[in-house]
Amino acid sequence: MPNQAPAKIQLKDYRPYPYSILQTNLSFELDKKRTIVKSKLEFALNKNDEVPEYVSLDGENLELIELKLNGRLLDTTEYTYSNDTLRFPPPSDKFSFEATVAISPEANKALSGLYLSGESLCTQCEAEGFRRITFFPDRPDVMSRFFVRLEANKDTYPILLANGNPIASGTIGENHFAEWNDPWPKPSYLFAIVAGNLLNKSADFKTLSGKNVKLNIYVESVDIDRIDYAMDALIRSMKWDEDVFGREYDLDVFNVVGVRDFNAGAMENKGLNIFNSALLVADSQTATDFDFANIERVIAHEYFHNWSGNRVTCRDWFQLSLKEGLTVFRDQEFSADQRSRAVQRIHDVIQLRARQFAEDAGPNAHSVRPHEYASIDNFYTSTIYEKGAEVIRVAQNILGESNFNKGAIKYFETNDGKAATIEDWLEALRSSSNDPLDGIEKWYSQAGTPILDVKTDLVENTYSIKLAQNTPPTNNQPVKEWVPIPLDMAFFNKNGEKMVLDFEGTHIDSIHLNLSTEETLIEFEGIDEKPVLSILRGFTAPVKLISDHTNEELAILAAHDDDTFVRWESLQTIARKELLIGAYAVKNNMEFSTSKILMNCYNNVFDIAQNDYAYAALLLQLPATNDLIQASNDAYPENIFAARELLATSIYEQNKDKISKFIADYKFDAEYSPDAKSAGLRSYAAACFYLLSFDDSSSELLEYFKSANNMTDKMSLLFALARKGDDAWSQALNIFYNDWKSNNLVLDKYFSNQAASASGNPVKRLKDLLVHPDFVLTNPNRVRSVLASFAVNNPVGFNSADGSGYETIVNELIKLDGINPMVAARVATAFERVVKIEPQRRSIAKQHLERLLRENISKQMQEIVSSINKSI
Ligand code: ARG
Ligand code: ZN
Repeated sequence: MPNQAPAKIQLKDYRPYPYSILQTNLSFELDKKRTIVKSKLEFALNKNDEVPEYVSLDGENLELIELKLNGRLLDTTEYTYSNDTLRFPPPSDKFSFEATVAISPEANKALSGLYLSGESLCTQCEAEGFRRITFFPDRPDVMSRFFVRLEANKDTYPILLANGNPIASGTIGENHFAEWNDPWPKPSYLFAIVAGNLLNKSADFKTLSGKNVKLNIYVESVDIDRIDYAMDALIRSMKWDEDVFGREYDLDVFNVVGVRDFNAGAMENKGLNIFNSALLVADSQTATDFDFANIERVIAHEYFHNWSGNRVTCRDWFQLSLKEGLTVFRDQEFSADQRSRAVQRIHDVIQLRARQFAEDAGPNAHSVRPHEYASIDNFYTSTIYEKGAEVIRVAQNILGESNFNKGAIKYFETNDGKAATIEDWLEALRSSSNDPLDGIEKWYSQAGTPILDVKTDLVENTYSIKLAQNTPPTNNQPVKEWVPIPLDMAFFNKNGEKMVLDFEGTHIDSIHLNLSTEETLIEFEGIDEKPVLSILRGFTAPVKLISDHTNEELAILAAHDDDTFVRWESLQTIARKELLIGAYAVKNNMEFSTSKILMNCYNNVFDIAQNDYAYAALLLQLPATNDLIQASNDAYPENIFAARELLATSIYEQNKDKISKFIADYKFDAEYSPDAKSAGLRSYAAACFYLLSFDDSSSELLEYFKSANNMTDKMSLLFALARKGDDAWSQALNIFYNDWKSNNLVLDKYFSNQAASASGNPVKRLKDLLVHPDFVLTNPNRVRSVLASFAVNNPVGFNSADGSGYETIVNELIKLDGINPMVAARVATAFERVVKIEPQRRSIAKQHLERLLRENISKQMQEIVSSINKSI
């Protein structure tokens, strides 16, 4: 039954594996068509475990050549291999198992296991790719020491890498070999090898205790001059983890490899990180500031996993956020320390709301620790990653930084070498701070975004703040309880000055609370003037705030609050409210103009921009169409989009002179540096170019585009030109294509810029891109640059009233699912957002999803689409 939801694995069914694997020896005869893998595993029954009837090993798409137990060849009656499982009766409590299998890297288009990227062989094993290489208990709680021998043709594959330390190498005729030993026991998902014709750059790092580590970054020769930034970011990451958490690196070498074909961003394999080259390779000519910041973040993220993930790993995949949430938290903190903490926090919140809040409000809402899944690949989500990081931050905000850090260090030390659970993490925090963190588990077990409702009043000199929290029901989880919410507040008067209030006998100008009930009432006596409440300062918990602030009050906060998050948020809140009113007006052909209050807020931004350009650029970033769709019911995206355009027009009209002056003074030939301050100036320039596109400015923008000397400015200008969508844009695109047609990473930008533009006829443009000679379904970056850019970043095009956006995407998903189901299922999640679109389009989307479900699709795709289909 293709329409049936696939079978699910349950957290409650977790059972330990009865055996330990004391040693794993692997030998590879590498060849892109047919690679021979020989393995030898030393099994030992765990104490207290009964001898099971069968030993079960995972194995997927393996051509079985031979099996041995304790050195004796098995005949086919002594084992079974079906449904991706190998079974045999154990010969004794301790025994050796040997297997010889063949696999075809070249035929592996799913990019899980051993596959070919360009002319290099590489692996991706998380979560369940190792079973596509050889037989193994492919689960994170079985940790083993790995010894690996690689042999390959020395001209085709001059570089041979594996986890751990290199111990031997040599030549055998046409071939050569390399042996690697990893002294740290690890689960199979952290296994990796690479073989290819790659170049590298090296550096040395001296650790905390004085040990020298050789760092290497390997890429294809075309990229070799673009990895200095990644190396620098790696060195800073290693130092940061020593300084902040006392974590030291633990091998003689640390290797990083960039490949062009990769399903995700990067992977933390022990001592051998493998990266999507889009997150590794950058210079001023080919990468934007956004790319540089992402490279810094992901380099740090994968490096930090060496402790949060590798030395301490996960007991089972339900605990995925134990490593991912914690590691995202750590990379966010790193970026905040390297750049601007205020700007970083706002970026993280924008990201969280755009992706995680949408997921949490949609048909695939799940908790940070899900209790069931069909395909674990579908759970590398924003909830596991970003909400997981926010929940860590909630704990930090309750405990304070110093207790939190003590707890984190205790977690690393007491769980070193173990496969841990979220309980182990919480236990370390609790025991080192003596704080019970009441109710924190509920952040892990409940899906959905809590709503925090705030009502303030002043009656007879008593100022009251009433706080009520509730979490709306989500699919399969109707009943919710309170969660602990750390909260900082401050008070301002009408002139924007901080007010000092009398609270239970002391004078305070701010207050920290940890909400641990559904409702909380706070009262202040002897108040004459109603304070303007600054609340959820620093965004200390991932909640939706509903407050009774008037626009006048929000404008006071937008102008004066010393909390940079609330100052930014207050302007956003006024803008969101007015844009939703605007969208309604557009739909009903009513007059609409933005308020004076809102315009004053925006006009101020231009006057103070030079104090902090990066922050000013964030203030000028209008609430995203997608976020406004999320905030509506039965949305018409084109009306929301139109309201946004009206707001941008007014901002431009009222600040024309300042914008023109800034652009006239802007140095298009300034020397490029990726640092946060220079990037901030360019992000403000991008906001100005976008606003300038609301004038008759095409030829001017095109001239700037031609004279821009770095990719950041070029892309900002291409974005502004795309908004207008006239001939100047086509000209710029032609120049861009001719300059960069041989650089795949830059070419991805050519595709994504066009796929995400709402101008003209977006579906027609999408169809043209799909038949472009450079479009391929086999490269995930190219797929994302077209399909995801359109389905996620082009809500107007995707939700076209005639359903042609949905139809075209579903047609591609059917093809893509047969090639790379993991990437296909990820793109399909774009349909989660359709639940907020008006009913007519929803029903067209449903027809297309049902058509998709009638195809012979992967279990990944089934899991995602069948649940969307039920809710749409
Ligand atoms: N653990 C990797 C990271 O650093 C991501 C692995 C992605 N795997 C997947 N099946 N989607 O976040
Ligand atoms: Zn990660």
